[in-house]
Amino acid sequence: MKKIIIDTDPGIDDAFALCYAFAHPQLEVVALTTIFGNVNVDLATTNALKLCELNNTDIPVARGAVQPLSIEPNPHSTFVHGDNGFGNIELPPADSAPADKDATDTLIDIVLANPGEITLVAVGPLTNLALALKKAPEIVNAVEAVVIMGGAFDRPGNVTPHAEANVWNDPHAAREVLTADWPVVIHGLDVTHQIIFDRDTFDSLSSGNPKVGKFLHDAAEFYIDFYQQRNNFAGCCPHDQLALSYLTRPELFESETAALDVITDGDEIGRTIRSPEKGMANKQIVKKVDATLLVNDYLDTLTRNSK
Ligand code: RIB
Ligand code: CA
Repeated sequence: MKKIIIDTDPGIDDAFALCYAFAHPQLEVVALTTIFGNVNVDLATTNALKLCELNNTDIPVARGAVQPLSIEPNPHSTFVHGDNGFGNIELPPADSAPADKDATDTLIDIVLANPGEITLVAVGPLTNLALALKKAPEIVNAVEAVVIMGGAFDRPGNVTPHAEANVWNDPHAAREVLTADWPVVIHGLDVTHQIIFDRDTFDSLSSGNPKVGKFLHDAAEFYIDFYQQRNNFAGCCPHDQLALSYLTRPELFESETAALDVITDGDEIGRTIRSPEKGMANKQIVKKVDATLLVNDYLDTLTRNSK
């Protein structure tokens, strides 16, 4: 089993990814850490707790940073994810409470207690990871890998012509994380836009998994409406899921090795770039994915063994 910590801002596509991670036999989710982004950090934490309970999972959920390192906070993406982060579909209130430790200390303590064993999966703004790097730089040698959803390399962003949302929401943190000397695999919009979950996908999910799949089906309606209006898609991009699928089915992906950096001011703020001068060339930019096999694997994982 691969031990992972997911740093997340749930979020509809975060919910797709978390439910997959909880269901997959090769993944052991040891903790969730939360971050502002799609919603504020308190709502992200509540939503993460609710997703744990929906999936009968009892793991630490640690509340993370409230705001970015340097810039003024951007508005949350309620027009993409709904006011409650789940397309305005309600889950029952969570019985459990957040962990006593915050996200930064949770990340550091778990990584250092399990040298070489923990993969950090970051699917929101990278503030928590940047704070953990600042407080305990030795974690770069203790993680197994850092797998990220964020950025846009050879295509426009989804918030500005240059910036993808997770990087846009904290470009300074993204720069810290992408230039640190640890092994990073980054799934930008270049690859996440190769996958579309359409209404048939969600119908199969709901009929094959009447509890978790039905919730994801219902929450996806709001997200699909957004994609229909913005991109004229008949479906939605499950961005964050790619970081999880990469861990279980790496053979479905093709990537390029590079050194990376992030533009932190001016018109192109939030743009992710290849930068041989600045960073270490131990980063993988994921370029291509087998869309059919990824969607099949997603459905199979969520519907296998479900009642
Ligand atoms: O740009 C896509 C990313 O922004 C995803 O992580 C999504 O959840 C939003 O946070
Ligand atoms: Ca996210």
